[in-house]
Amino acid sequence: MDWKDPDMFESAEHGNKPFAIRVPALVVSRGAGDRINFLTAMWFTPTGFEPSRLVVAILKRTLTYKLLLERGEFVMSAPTDKMMEVVVFAGYISGYDVDKWKATGLTPVMPSRVSVPLIGEAIGNVEYQVIQQIPFDDETDLFVGEALATHVKKGAMEGELYREDSNPLLYMGTKYDSQGKSLGKFYTHIGVVEKADYDCPLLKEYLRWEKRR
Ligand SMILES: Cc1cc2nc3c(=O)[nH]c(=O)nc-3n(C[C@H](O)[C@H](O)[C@H](O)COP(=O)(O)O)c2cc1C
Repeated sequence: MDWKDPDMFESAEHGNKPFAIRVPALVVSRGAGDRINFLTAMWFTPTGFEPSRLVVAILKRTLTYKLLLERGEFVMSAPTDKMMEVVVFAGYISGYDVDKWKATGLTPVMPSRVSVPLIGEAIGNVEYQVIQQIPFDDETDLFVGEALATHVKKGAMEGELYREDSNPLLYMGTKYDSQGKSLGKFYTHIGVVEKADYDCPLLKEYLRWEKRR
């Protein structure tokens, strides 16, 4: 192979940064009693179509971890761009110290399959049952949830796609100055929703093939 020098790249801190723009989640949990809580999560990934499952890494020191063990259910709420401050707050403050529902005034909404509330202000809420807990490292376990019900804000999506004029929070992360001091959390917006160009030579040639595996 004729390798090129990588002079078009520069190195960046924190390995996963090119994948940093995403809809973050508020993971809602409820204890054996009535204690409800939520944290901000970015370490999660959907896996598979049907059944729809999701893997989320949860720090053992969080209240969320304790509540997940108590009830084995959770809700993942997708915030709107109006909920930036809630996302920053819930990623910084623990439910061990503050009642985050009370502090934010978010609206608890009746779920359909689990006993953990949905967040009324969110653009989407998914109800999950924990089907597996996988030890990962000293600080973290992975929780696999199976989606039991999905609720999308009326008018926000067309089929499975966000509409162009919908407003999910697209979170970019923290910007730092040259001394490493935080300049705050940043986010972006959906600008256009575009279909892949199926007439381009690559797709025109290969998408005609019958899928083999
Ligand atoms: C952008 C961002 C993403 C985060 N992602 C996760 C995550 O995926 N899993 C996790 O356990 N903590 C994550 N955290 C940290 C928790 O949100 C934070 O420790 C929170 O205060 C724990 O709340 P709790 O104790 O009420 O559960 C994240 C924090 C931020 C700011």
